[in-house]
Amino acid sequence: MSTENHLPPPTVVFIFGGSGDLNQRKLSPALYNLFLDGYMPNQFAIVGLGRTAYTNENFRERLWKGIDLFSRSKDDPKSEQHWNEFSQNIHYIAMDGEDASSYNKLSDFVGVKNKEWNVKPQVVFYLAVAPQLVPDIATSLGKLEMSNIANCVRIVIEKPFGHDLQSAHDLNALLKSMFKEEQIYRIDHYLGKETVQNILAFRFANALFEPIWNRNYIDHVQITNAETVGVEERGGYYEKSGALRDMVQNHILQLICMIAMEAPVSFDANEIRNKKVDVLNAIRKITKEQAHEHAVRGQYSAGWMKGKEVKGYREEQNVSPNSNVETFAAVKFFIDNWRWQDVPFYVRTGKYLHEKTTIITIQFKQAPKFAFPPEAAETWRPNRLTISIQPNMDIRLRFQAKKPGQDITLNPVDMIFSYADAYDGHEPEAYETLLLDVMQGNATLFMRDDQVEAAWKIIMPILEAWQIRPPVDFPNYSPDSWGPEDAEALIARDGHNWITLPLPHKE
Ligand code: BG6
Repeated sequence: MSTENHLPPPTVVFIFGGSGDLNQRKLSPALYNLFLDGYMPNQFAIVGLGRTAYTNENFRERLWKGIDLFSRSKDDPKSEQHWNEFSQNIHYIAMDGEDASSYNKLSDFVGVKNKEWNVKPQVVFYLAVAPQLVPDIATSLGKLEMSNIANCVRIVIEKPFGHDLQSAHDLNALLKSMFKEEQIYRIDHYLGKETVQNILAFRFANALFEPIWNRNYIDHVQITNAETVGVEERGGYYEKSGALRDMVQNHILQLICMIAMEAPVSFDANEIRNKKVDVLNAIRKITKEQAHEHAVRGQYSAGWMKGKEVKGYREEQNVSPNSNVETFAAVKFFIDNWRWQDVPFYVRTGKYLHEKTTIITIQFKQAPKFAFPPEAAETWRPNRLTISIQPNMDIRLRFQAKKPGQDITLNPVDMIFSYADAYDGHEPEAYETLLLDVMQGNATLFMRDDQVEAAWKIIMPILEAWQIRPPVDFPNYSPDSWGPEDAEALIARDGHNWITLPLPHKE
């Protein structure tokens, strides 16, 4: 979310986990797209770091394959020429991140670039590594002389940030003993998505919605974040995580913040983050005793997914055959403040669900008086705003219309804003936005220390309650469904139901 259009200064980006999946799928393709779109600094170097012994050439080939497979620019007609220009700036240094003595290679590299460019480069350390490696790497980086220059060295930490409140707190303390808060960029890639950023524009650049954006007009809010994939080859990671940690603690709570926050007075990074942390602090703490009423967990069984036979979670690679880890979670939250008191926020997320979609529904209250004859109202529905984050990108407002004819029959119709129709469809991917922001020193879309901890505080009682009382019915949902029956009951108890998906296609 760049509010400035100047190019970043000369930059060296070190990527720990350079030979890993995230770099090949997301980071390098994103940097390449920034280059194609003219956003990379005039002088830059991207340095992959890892234990695997690559030459610069082999490493570039690996990244090129990634671009071919995963980048939105893979069909660029001049790709080879552009790649050749870009890839000259890619390097690889083999090193063991746990070996403190190898870190002088990084200072040496920066020294060489300093001489070559005749300017002191800014340095980004991107930690795309397993969470258990972060403390050691960060400690070694903190000892480098250059890390003291707060305005030209930044450290980027991928999620998960901690495993629970205590470990997140410890990691914050460790990082802050070596870096200033403004040097630390904690990534939640959902915040880089165009449709997520657009929520701020939708809410605060239009006078229309804000007056009704509160408990007087809104009945409830729903967030569905559904995936059609299982845990794939990430069983080892997922066993220590589960849906609540993997998706709710970060992405989904951030979406709630975007919907529920007060209007910021400026686009200053701290101002936006203050407004978001206010929401997190206002979310009602569910006690351990209440957790079972407010939260539902599920785990997928073996079955069929879009015509393909798939394994149950407990049969996945690196997963315990008795695992109680949840692959689905649904929670009902409340936000205790003047705007949202008693408006439920229902959220659900899971693997192997029926549709891949992330969608936010704002359900408005019913009209106070219904003057139409009863037969006119058979298909009557309350107003509803849906914000489709992905893969469809649109915003729909449902309202009633009179069906043409001599009778008075009402039926709901949608007014639709679709990104594909309005724009040319070349929106940047989340990591492009986030990496550019890091290089420009704009932390608005990154998690501050207090945000991360506030988010952990919200989910800790649920995690603890689930740990104390193991599930008795796992696995409890089949692939290609919408999760366990209890998730339906969670919302049905309040007289609501989850939005029917998929939404009809736009004609
Ligand atoms: C990641 C989770 O943060 O987000 C994954 O670790 C999940 O489990 C992914 O699949 C979903 O991201 P997106 O952008 O595809 O919705």
